[in-house]
Amino acid sequence: MYTRWLCICLAAVSAVAADVVDDCKLSSDKASASEQALLNRLAPLKHKRFETTLQTGTDSYTYTFVVCGSVFNGSKSSNEGLVQNNTKNQGITVVGRINDTSIVNGTDWILLTYKSGEAYDSHCRSEPRKAMIMISCNKKTLAEGFTIISEERDKLNDCFYLFEMDSSVACPPEESHLSVGSILLIVLAVLIGLYIIGGFLYQRFVVGAKGMEQFPNITLWKELGNLVADGCDFVCRSQPRSSETAYRGVGDDQLGEEPEERDDHLLPM
Ligand SMILES: *[C@@H]1O[C@H](CO)[C@@H](O)[C@H](O)[C@H]1NC(C)=O
Ligand SMILES: *[C@@H]1O[C@H](CO)[C@@H](O)[C@H](O)[C@H]1NC(C)=O
Ligand SMILES: *[C@@H]1O[C@H](CO)[C@@H](O)[C@H](O)[C@H]1NC(C)=O
Repeated sequence: MYTRWLCICLAAVSAVAADVVDDCKLSSDKASASEQALLNRLAPLKHKRFETTLQTGTDSYTYTFVVCGSVFNGSKSSNEGLVQNNTKNQGITVVGRINDTSIVNGTDWILLTYKSGEAYDSHCRSEPRKAMIMISCNKKTLAEGFTIISEERDKLNDCFYLFEMDSSVACPPEESHLSVGSILLIVLAVLIGLYIIGGFLYQRFVVGAKGMEQFPNITLWKELGNLVADGCDFVCRSQPRSSETAYRGVGDDQLGEEPEERDDHLLPM
């Protein structure tokens, strides 16, 4: 009963932990379940905000990235996921929007792409800007090291801004995690340990028992041990023990012994 209750409790906890990231809208008309599952892995980073500054000559640009959330919460159209701010003239350029997201992964990285940014003026055939954020596995941090790598805009099309950062969410799931079964076994072992130690102390200091009697409920366990032994005897033995002893009397050696025994009994008479 207790273990069943514990299982339900553990299941409820894991259900709460599996957060859903629904602010990022996947670009494809019908998002695949695996792409949505991958997006859900970003849940620990949801709405987190990162900034990096790039100095180019006299200009300096600040890039602000929000994971599946808007850089301008509330104002504007609220889907600007990555925004460039020219610190000299405060000119704001939307690089990517969260309503046009795509995501792919490998063993130790996740590539998040925000599209539908503001169109280039003259570069790249005036296509919309696009931000690609490469998230690499780093077990030591939830999220850090957000930096811009490059802006590719000297192509005719498919231009992009490329960023990178480190996060543990991009790491492959660890196999060494304890399963529910092993957790239950550990709990059971601890309970048994507590029972023995607690019972021992009780028997020794409250009841005043000595030697083997200090073991808690010793008579009960002895009885149980005998029952188990009987059970094993009954189940595991191929021949009943009684017949084995019965046969012994017919052996040749027994025949030789018996008269001797009879003699001994006769002696005192
Ligand atoms: C909105 O964004 C600002 C930064 O621009 C932040 O300080 C603030 O906490 C955000 N508010 C909400 C409700 O997320
Ligand atoms: C995303 O929203 C912007 C306006 O905020 C819109 O122009 C664009 O078409 C949208 N993109 C998608 C894929 O829905
Ligand atoms: C990509 O992420 C999915 C969903 O989390 C996972 O099942 C899959 O193993 C990952 N792919 C690789 C190559 O690790």
